[in-house]
Amino acid sequence: MERIPEPELMEKKEQVISYDEADFSEGEVNFINQINHYLSKKNISLGEKDLIVDLGCGPGNISEKLAIKWPNTEVVGIDGSKEMILRAERNKKIAAKQKELKNLRYVCSDIKDIKSNNFLINKKISLLVSNSLIHHITHLEDFFNTIRGLSSKITVNFHKDLKRPLDEKSALELKAQCSNEYNEILTNDYYASLIASYTFKELKNFTLENDLSSLDVFEDGEKYLIVYGNV
Ligand SMILES: C[S@@+](CC[C@H](N)C(=O)[O-])C[C@H]1O[C@@H](n2cnc3c(N)ncnc32)[C@H](O)[C@@H]1O
Repeated sequence: MERIPEPELMEKKEQVISYDEADFSEGEVNFINQINHYLSKKNISLGEKDLIVDLGCGPGNISEKLAIKWPNTEVVGIDGSKEMILRAERNKKIAAKQKELKNLRYVCSDIKDIKSNNFLINKKISLLVSNSLIHHITHLEDFFNTIRGLSSKITVNFHKDLKRPLDEKSALELKAQCSNEYNEILTNDYYASLIASYTFKELKNFTLENDLSSLDVFEDGEKYLIVYGNV
């Protein structure tokens, strides 16, 4: 199925509210566990000297879980949508575990404009993650240039995203499943995201053709792709 890009930033208020109000906690917990698994495999434990950056953080669900899981690190969530960052700040303020989020802050910036020396202090990034971001990025080189620019030798990258279905029929089946659980706005957004997603081959070929073969690209079940490793 041909890729149809969707707008990069999620800026419409009703879209942001629908996304924020949905419960994606199962996938989010899974995401944190997967990262933990890979860090353990590399014998990496994160502490005071470490900076974690969550690109395209949206309403901050994953940034919050990162901050709680690794309480001694500093966590920065970055999103280009003002509405999303407002939502993330609000969620942080009203969180039951607010006291555990002192190590978390948010920055509103397009990932293409991030200059690490602007607001990431002088720390190098130890863990650079994103969830459901890559499919928003119109040109793959913008995503990979960003992570290349932000990464140093010590940076572990972990980026998870949807995989584009093989054909429209499969995409429509997934959309129908989504509509059983979520409202119309979210279901339409999900369908737009599915057809804007990249395939395994597109991501893998990009890494091979652009001197990024130290990054592993693999399929995670039927629906997801993961880009993992050092740049
Ligand atoms: C589907 S949401 C995912 C939010 C969050 N990572 C999660 O898993 O719940 C994608 C987010 O990426 C943000 N985004 C898309 N393109 C971006 C860009 N070029 N720069 C910064 N943020 C971007 C959108 O505004 C949106 O908040």
